[in-house]
Amino acid sequence: MTYKIYLADPFIDDSEIDEVVSTLKSGWVSQGPKTREFEEKISDICGVKHTIAMCNGTATLHTALLAAGVKPNNNVICPSMSYISTSNSIIYCGAQPKFVDIDINTYNLDPKKVRKAIDEYVKINNYKCEILRNTRFAKIEK
Ligand SMILES: Cc1ncc(COP(=O)(O)O)c(C=O)c1O
Repeated sequence: MTYKIYLADPFIDDSEIDEVVSTLKSGWVSQGPKTREFEEKISDICGVKHTIAMCNGTATLHTALLAAGVKPNNNVICPSMSYISTSNSIIYCGAQPKFVDIDINTYNLDPKKVRKAIDEYVKINNYKCEILRNTRFAKIEK
């Protein structure tokens, strides 16, 4: 018996196809006016000053990790149910992915399980740990 399990069903309508065709015909295939327009719209939606369009999700995750200061040999917690680039982008930084389970209701990382994983890691290694308030970071020291 075979099953089809769709991970993500793309929704692309004619307006998106028309935009792609008009952009290709304009000759601007990298950082042209459409990219600028896209970045400005994302800035407006997110209420932020700056937006940088990236070529794909993997490059975006990799860049975000470097911007967050992830260094070689760091441990980075990530969801155990995700696309392979979640862990690949961590490995590209020379760091190690540490998988934590998701929340079955949101499909996002479960914050309680993240806390538990950090507590166990700290206890096993006899480290000091400070969860940095209002951030998604924990400072762990020997
Ligand atoms: C959760 C998640 N992260 C990252 C990516 C990577 O995106 P890209 O294929 O654009 O590199 C995907 C792609 O499907 C994804 O589903």
